[in-house]
Amino acid sequence: MAQDEDLTACPVRWADDGLLLIDQTRLPGELRRVLIDDVDALVEAIRSLAVRGAPALGVAGAFGVAVALRQGAREGWDRAATLAAVERIRHARPTAVNLRRGTDRAAARLEEGVAAVLEEAEAVRREDVAANRRLSELGADWLLARAGHDRPLRLLTHCNAGALATAGWGTALGVVRELHRRGRVELVYVDETRPLLQGARLTAWELAQEGIAHVVQVDGAAASTILYQGVDAAVVGADRIAANGDTANKIGTLGVALACAHAGIPFLVAAPTTTVDPDTPDGAAIPIELRAPHEVTGPDADERSPGFNPAFDVTPGSLVSALVTERGVAEVSRGELPGKLWGTPA
Ligand code: MRU
Repeated sequence: MAQDEDLTACPVRWADDGLLLIDQTRLPGELRRVLIDDVDALVEAIRSLAVRGAPALGVAGAFGVAVALRQGAREGWDRAATLAAVERIRHARPTAVNLRRGTDRAAARLEEGVAAVLEEAEAVRREDVAANRRLSELGADWLLARAGHDRPLRLLTHCNAGALATAGWGTALGVVRELHRRGRVELVYVDETRPLLQGARLTAWELAQEGIAHVVQVDGAAASTILYQGVDAAVVGADRIAANGDTANKIGTLGVALACAHAGIPFLVAAPTTTVDPDTPDGAAIPIELRAPHEVTGPDADERSPGFNPAFDVTPGSLVSALVTERGVAEVSRGELPGKLWGTPA
């Protein structure tokens, strides 16, 4: 299994010649970094999930504007061609609002040139790490207060919302890390997260490196584990949070939330405010990425049995016990909307 020197080190960062990514399709077997210096390669890296996770996509989109500018200068593009390339990056995947946000933020400085774009992208990267650290503390505080006892917690998570999915440290796994730091994690149930196994491959890898006790389970085990294995809370990340608190996250998250509601345990969504989209009124307005059927069926499937492969689902706000961002906590299922956080930086 690959080892990383420092998991809080940014999985998406700028090197002198381009965007340096950890290729997440290779983990956990191999820790390979790839240098991206053209737009086709970046769009492919995003679509293939070499870089993935909403906040990491935001950082990749922001640095992607610099990739487009530099390629344009090399190949003599006019302004329209550069803008078209930026649009391709912006739309490489539809659900995580961070990709659009990060790209737009850097593109707003496009006319100032590469150095200004890089400065903005670097700010996106830096701010994400800081947000993750803060929301992790706040999420840990909230969970411990809700638990109301002194023993370590049994947690469940879905997909990968760790350092790899962000600019560093992680969101949902950031909360887990913070709880571990405080000696308050007994065990983490990691949903394997079909079909691309972000849980079994990536979350398990991160937890193993941190020495956090965990077990990997099939997604279909989650409801039973929540009801019968003494799980204290589920904590997940998000790809887009609508103004009413409806939350898109990796397919399978909704089932986790339903089981938590039935069991009467907290379902915590941990995400930076860059994942909250006030322009999306509710879950119905969140575009859900449909991926290739063969990711579900395998390449040799009987063509009479096609796959159906939505990459995300939407958990209604009524099932979100709390949303924690770097600005504070909104108890969505009790009627507190994400907009509450705009007025109350923590
Ligand atoms: O398809 P992916 O792997 O990009 O999906 C990622 C998730 O659903 C994560 O939970 C979400 O982006 C939050 S990452 C901090």
